Amino acid sequence: MTGSTGLWITLEGGDGSGKTTQANLLEAWLADAGRRVLRTREPGGSDVGQLIRDIVLHHRGDIAPRAEALLYAADRAHHVATVVRPALGRGDVVIQDRYLDSSVAYQGAGRVLDAAEIRELSLWATEGALPDLTVLLDLDPTAARARLDADDKPFDRLEAEKAEFHTRVRESYLALADAEPERFLVLDAAASPSEIADAVRARVSSLL
Ligand code: TYD
Repeated sequence: MTGSTGLWITLEGGDGSGKTTQANLLEAWLADAGRRVLRTREPGGSDVGQLIRDIVLHHRGDIAPRAEALLYAADRAHHVATVVRPALGRGDVVIQDRYLDSSVAYQGAGRVLDAAEIRELSLWATEGALPDLTVLLDLDPTAARARLDADDKPFDRLEAEKAEFHTRVRESYLALADAEPERFLVLDAAASPSEIADAVRARVSSLL
């Protein structure tokens, strides 16, 4: 991010794509190399963010789509201002699970809100903050589902809708990566964790 001395890396991908495993491997490798690392996530990477995370992920009942988008943006605004920018200013490497691409992919996939609007909202919230690198762990949603849940009962209507939703999330992520090839590193999440980690390290090395 312009004006800071650290390195900001975000991880994106569907549920079950292996972001946490890769974040752990990258953190260990960077720590061995003597870099100070801050691990964080959205939603919920700050104290205020924890409260917002509780609302967006655990509230029973509907949240209006615009309210939901604003809650993620509010979490992001506070997180970038109070956690990410200070860490980058200290020269840390920030490894972050999910950022604005999650909002575009997930809130956009609900088909109520426009992807460009959601992105603009997040950029307003964070005064234009964009990561140095975004690793997209791309995985076919059917494979992701199989990872999350080993049993193979036929899909009911709700599950089929969910599968369609996750297909839209994936397509949206891939379109975002196409639009910003310099920021994104797209990796096949079906590869082995160590192969993926090698590819991430190669790219991060070139940025350190
Ligand atoms: P989380 O517990 O972080 O799970 P995961 O392991 O999938 O990252 O849950 C985050 C959920 O929030 C995930 O389903 C995606 C969703 N999300 C959005 O819809 N919009 C956003 O802007 C963010 C950051 C997350």
